Amino acid sequence: MRPLWHRAAFHPGCATAASVRASSWWTHVEMGPPDPILGVTEAFKRNTNSKKMNLGVSAFWDDNGKPYVLPNVHKAVAQIAASAQPALGENSEVLKSGQFVTVQTISGTGTLRIRASFLQRFFKFSQDVFLPKPSWGSHTPIFRDAGMQLQGYRYYDPNTCGFGFTGAIKDISKIPEQSVLLLHACAHNPTRVDPRLEQWKEAATVKTRNLFAFFDVVYQGFASGDGGKDAWANMGLYGERAGAFTVIYKDVESQLKILIHPMYSNPPLNGAQIASTILNTPDLLKQWLQEEKGMANCIITMRTQLVSSLKKESSTHNWQHITDQIGMFCFTGLKPEQVEQLTKEFSIYMTKDGCISVAGVTSGNMGYLAHAIHQVTQ
Ligand SMILES: Cc1ncc(COP(=O)(O)O)c(C=O)c1O
Repeated sequence: MRPLWHRAAFHPGCATAASVRASSWWTHVEMGPPDPILGVTEAFKRNTNSKKMNLGVSAFWDDNGKPYVLPNVHKAVAQIAASAQPALGENSEVLKSGQFVTVQTISGTGTLRIRASFLQRFFKFSQDVFLPKPSWGSHTPIFRDAGMQLQGYRYYDPNTCGFGFTGAIKDISKIPEQSVLLLHACAHNPTRVDPRLEQWKEAATVKTRNLFAFFDVVYQGFASGDGGKDAWANMGLYGERAGAFTVIYKDVESQLKILIHPMYSNPPLNGAQIASTILNTPDLLKQWLQEEKGMANCIITMRTQLVSSLKKESSTHNWQHITDQIGMFCFTGLKPEQVEQLTKEFSIYMTKDGCISVAGVTSGNMGYLAHAIHQVTQ
């Protein structure tokens, strides 16, 4: 099972709990009415009467009033759990303070769809979402289908195959106040180039411009091998399509539930249980952190080897961006016609934008790939 990170957080910078309350974008959101079906179970849970019965649930329960899990499902879960490698980062002050709400979602896409609908319904300032250019392909339809308008800001500089810091800051400084700004937390998709730490500090620009910035977090832990370094805590299990959506303002929970209920009612339990088991079992957590680091290191090594293999082929191009980039994918800078040639003449397949999965490169096929890239780029 391939772990990926899905954490979508509305993030008010390094705010304290008190400042979150005072300055939140969400203070106008009113508490929603309790859900007529799910509200029954919530009321049941709150009741302390030992004779309580919940007859409002459409699930098969055993004679002890507990959900009945088929024994073979238990076995399957145990097997899946053994191969799961979820992840953890560090808690921020806001997370510790409890001034946030997290809802379980379905995958990264589902997380984005919930947040897009949440913005469309409750963000009263602007319906314009500014995406980096380029951004992950599905960002546009997800926000458009939720009724938001898409705008862009410069991000990638094709001349350096890197992050175009000056262009990005220039564009961001012109975005109208109170607009929504989408940022990729790490391993930006598709370019895989991230701002450096000191460039992130320029996020002050966002704060003084009063823009509502939020992060799409998918590759946390996969980039550097350190979930805490790549971003802060949360996780998703890829195969389980488990995700999480965090708003750093506690009082919007009822409205999130109202949004989610007509979409998927309740998320599957299994992924959340696997994640919870690993995060709460010190041995499993330690092992998982090591495995995460192992995977990230392997990808970093492959990047270095690809550059040295290209040099061995006598390629004179500057391939430094391959090692400067981060995460599982590599935005090679290959042009569409070169990609086409790679596929036609060497049977090497990749998307037209020249993005390759470094995880698909092995020590066995590295030489062949470097040779082929050299042939189409010399
Ligand atoms: C930036 C970004 N956001 C969200 C997603 C969606 O994740 P999922 O495949 O879990 O729907 C992806 C997946 O590639 C992504 O790259």
